Amino acid sequence: MTAKIIDGKQIAADMRAELKQEVAGLKKQGIVPGLGVILVGDDPASQSYVTAKERDCEEIGIYSDDNRLPDSISRKELMALVEKMNDDPKINGILVQLPLPRGFDESEVLFAINPAKDVDGFHPVNVGRMVIGEKAFLPCTPHGVVKLLIRSGVTIEGANVVVVGRSNLVGKPLANMLVQKKPNANATVTICHTRTKDLAAHTKRADIIVAAAGRPNTVTAEMVKEGAVVIDVGVNRLEDATKKKGYRLVGDVDFEAVKEKASLITPVPGGVGPMTRTMLLYNTIESAKIAAGLEIE
Ligand code: GUN
Repeated sequence: MTAKIIDGKQIAADMRAELKQEVAGLKKQGIVPGLGVILVGDDPASQSYVTAKERDCEEIGIYSDDNRLPDSISRKELMALVEKMNDDPKINGILVQLPLPRGFDESEVLFAINPAKDVDGFHPVNVGRMVIGEKAFLPCTPHGVVKLLIRSGVTIEGANVVVVGRSNLVGKPLANMLVQKKPNANATVTICHTRTKDLAAHTKRADIIVAAAGRPNTVTAEMVKEGAVVIDVGVNRLEDATKKKGYRLVGDVDFEAVKEKASLITPVPGGVGPMTRTMLLYNTIESAKIAAGLEIE
């Protein structure tokens, strides 16, 4: 079988077009969703992520308050900025770009964000609410994975899902979302990680494999059942002298070989990545609706 490629770029663009319409409707009611962005330091990857997020906001009509700070900023100044955004009614979502430069306590900063503005879904209040199945801001990458599956027509209910990777950003929250007793969940989920004995024995039984290990070639063709759905969350830079930047991006899956066995597969880039950014916009709009007292689904 040769897999159909899931076009994350297109699915994300479709979602953004829907969100843009929704924002236009909210504006007629005097509601403008706002995102506060904090980037500390000059990490080039973080700078380009943040620039892309701000471009997304502009494209769909979300107000964004852009704060780029030198890594010489003090802990006190950073905490004061978070507090200011917590109190600013124009801001519905606060994004502190990770990783923070060395010397900053990420947990301290993330836990200072008002959970009602925690559009990354990293605050323990939102994590806890998610786990017990209450309404919560869901972290953008795993939420994007679920949306990709749904919009690609994949049946999650009853599926054997193997998540490879147990990070707080992707593996753990994704497994939690998929196991909920809710529509578009109800999966049987196995989380595998670096200490898993015989990873292939697990992945070979999976109807859906999600690779989020942060290592190229974690999932190879022999590890995949014929017809499985394969979602690649990995973003790895491999040195490549033929490229202008000197590197190319690859995922965690051996794409060329696995696509001959899977029924559906996401590419890297152009799979999960564009969905992550889109889910941030989605959460910011949800937050604005809640703040305005509107019903949300
Ligand atoms: N750095 C890499 N991914 C993310 C993300 O989803 N949110 C934030 N805040 N920082 C990140």
